[in-house]
Amino acid sequence: MEEDRIIVVDLGGQYAHLIARRVRELGVFSEIVQPDAPVSAFRDAKGIILSGSPYSICDLDAVNFNNEVFSLEKPLLGICYGHQIIARENGGEIKSSTSKEFGFAEMKVLKKEGIFEGLDDTERIWMSHHDEVSVLPPGAEVIGATSDCGITAMADFEKNWYGVQFHPEVVHTKHGAKMLENFVLKICKCRKTWGMEHYIEDQINEIRKTVGDKKVFILASGGVDSTVTIALLHKALGKERIYALHVDTGFMRKNEAEDVQKGLADLGLSEFHIVDAGDDFFSALKGVIDPEKKREIIGNLFIEVKNKEIKKLGFNEDEWLLGQGTIYPDTIETAGTKHADRIKTHHNRVELVQDLIKQGKIIEPLSQLYKDEVRELGEKLGLPAELVWRHPFPGPGLAIRALCSDGKEEGAEYFEKIEEKAAKVIAETCPDVKFTVKVLPVKSVGVQGDMRTYRHPVAIFGDADWETIEKVSTSLTNSLGDVNRVVWAISGEGDIGEFKLQEADLNRERIEILQEADAVVNEAIKKHDLAKKIWQFPVVIVPLDVNNAGESIVLRPVESKEAMTVSFYPMQREILNEIANKLLGIEGVGAVFYDVTHKPPATIEWE
Ligand code: XMP
Repeated sequence: MEEDRIIVVDLGGQYAHLIARRVRELGVFSEIVQPDAPVSAFRDAKGIILSGSPYSICDLDAVNFNNEVFSLEKPLLGICYGHQIIARENGGEIKSSTSKEFGFAEMKVLKKEGIFEGLDDTERIWMSHHDEVSVLPPGAEVIGATSDCGITAMADFEKNWYGVQFHPEVVHTKHGAKMLENFVLKICKCRKTWGMEHYIEDQINEIRKTVGDKKVFILASGGVDSTVTIALLHKALGKERIYALHVDTGFMRKNEAEDVQKGLADLGLSEFHIVDAGDDFFSALKGVIDPEKKREIIGNLFIEVKNKEIKKLGFNEDEWLLGQGTIYPDTIETAGTKHADRIKTHHNRVELVQDLIKQGKIIEPLSQLYKDEVRELGEKLGLPAELVWRHPFPGPGLAIRALCSDGKEEGAEYFEKIEEKAAKVIAETCPDVKFTVKVLPVKSVGVQGDMRTYRHPVAIFGDADWETIEKVSTSLTNSLGDVNRVVWAISGEGDIGEFKLQEADLNRERIEILQEADAVVNEAIKKHDLAKKIWQFPVVIVPLDVNNAGESIVLRPVESKEAMTVSFYPMQREILNEIANKLLGIEGVGAVFYDVTHKPPATIEWE
């Protein structure tokens, strides 16, 4: 039976793949195509979805779309930029809006039909835009509006065309899944015939074809992705044709190497090795401050260590491919698709790896999947639950959770201006709470409007419930251009003392402090049974000395489904106080902060 399919047009950024994946979740096959694909590529589709994009449709270099597709008379759904394309190419108009809306918004549903069938009168949606449709194309009508955006959603019911300015594919849009289900199952009338079993079957064939009579050398971190990759390769090739190497970089968690060894031994691998490369990693990173430079050094060093091991073992390099547990977000964040901005370079996407990919020497059977799909696959392959549900841990490990600095602060005047504005924003958003604000003199990576940012966090001091803190955080990142994160100072009310930025690189002393702090958090996760509620819980060390007591620790627990968008986790206060007190007891820790930013605008990791 030919499978029904939805085609997703990748207009840029990180969204097309997430949309395609949401369609798969509905049990329907989906395929991504580029915007200039010939019209023949769309002929078999039951429906077409045009994605969002980081570009402004008003820019000259905006992505060009092959608008012959409109003549196919298929059901269409345009999201954000895609919505604007449908409008503009069919006689509507776009204007560059003065107010930028990123984050949650309330939409009035004006017509509960088509994609909006079965929705509430008002819906919580996730907006990310600055241009908007100002004049409808002929035949279309408005079906949803927010206070800032008159044509938030439009429909041409006769043609079965829909456009929405927000993102139904992200979990923040409360009934986004329902809207996509309406489109795919009701409007496009797709049958549910796709599933993970298909994926396993396809990949086993694909692996056998790609590997031929060679073998696969794989770097096993012990994390979910590389372990599921090993299990899949096992099934396709048999264990004799796989060799797994765990590189201990020195940036692993406390006792990680032993845990990994045990976990992989339980998988029954015939060949498995650990190499202690800590000295190589620390000496290569000495004095390095820039986060992307750190990533580049680490990623390349993994390959160098692998090459050294292959030589030592006397393997013939031509007989081996390198297996990697790369998943889709790793590729997209490193700008692995045509129109995506580089958010950060994942360790499995550095230049040496890119060269190997070009030479056809890499195999990555999970590269189309998101983390939760990898977990589903792991379960289907029979891996133990505690392994499949481990929190994700980045390849470069604690190296990207230890912020580095040359110790030079930016001008106090510049910070004061931001602080003044921040105080006004807080007073307007929540007039009843008393928070003081301080810009922290470090920078961390964020993602705003699909683009990488490297900006200052602001710290808020004072107390309030999580809901108020969330409101304050969102309004601060929306209104302050120079800020991509908000942290809340846990250790005390009001001002907590003198901050001093210190010169700091990646050295063993700092990583040991971070390992201790990370172990405290992991113990608490276990004790309070939080592993499934919290999706991932990075612990970060920041070279801000407080009252000469030591550096600052930032807690970054998040809730998510697939890491492309996340919400900060509102932890029960007693548990949080218990963790904070333990952390303040570690020698070298002077203050504790709690990251209260969603993604976007902040990423999960701090870098
Ligand atoms: P961000 O910080 O971009 O992280 O919100 C998204 C997810 O990716 C993980 N991460 C990595 N995983 N190699 C990996 O295998 C890497 O280089 C890397 N960098 C980030 C991060 O922990 C989060 O789960």
